[in-house]
Amino acid sequence: MQFFIDTADTDAIRELYATGLADGVTTNPSLIKKSGRDFKEVIAEICAIVDGPVSAEVVATEADAMLREGRALAALARNVVVKLPLTLEGLKACRQLTAEGVATNVTLCFSANQALLAAKAGATYVSPFIGRLDDIHIEGMELIREIRLIYDNYGFETQILAASIRNPLHVKDSAMAGADVMTAPPDVIRALAVHPLTDKGLAAFLKDAAAAGISV
Ligand code: E4P
Repeated sequence: MQFFIDTADTDAIRELYATGLADGVTTNPSLIKKSGRDFKEVIAEICAIVDGPVSAEVVATEADAMLREGRALAALARNVVVKLPLTLEGLKACRQLTAEGVATNVTLCFSANQALLAAKAGATYVSPFIGRLDDIHIEGMELIREIRLIYDNYGFETQILAASIRNPLHVKDSAMAGADVMTAPPDVIRALAVHPLTDKGLAAFLKDAAAAGISV
């Protein structure tokens, strides 16, 4: 399973990417706003930090305008993935960008039928939003399971990118449901390594190591 960092905070990206555990980055207009930075400037900086895929989202709503924006974003760096909304216009733009060899991430996916369309449009990634479905009392993880089944039935190569991940349980459940990629905020990724028994066990081992005079 690939791990993407869901942020436009370049300090957090540098820190987590240095662990070797992160494979790419996803952004959206809200995350760009939170960074307070110029959109293209911050995407170019992220692409210079990270070798893997970096999603940058168009803001147009008509296919022709999305294509213009998508091509401009793709020209920023070789690892830009153009993020398009899951609308008929977005799917049309996705089909064309795919034909031009541009990687795409079809975002704001909330149903299996939408994911089926993204695969038919040749999307590189589809982003089902788990947390936002949970927010309205629909089990987000069920959507990942449905998409996995449908894609496997037909051999679609579009990768399932579990998005809107809010906690470590979402990460584990996405992995169990067969998501190809998950994208999570830096705090959630950091939290994956934490367990109280690890902390307690390490403290005891260090105390005993000191008492035994162990040095390596
Ligand atoms: C990433 O591609 C998505 O835009 C992001 O995961 C959405 O997360 P949110 O629902 O917590 O805003």
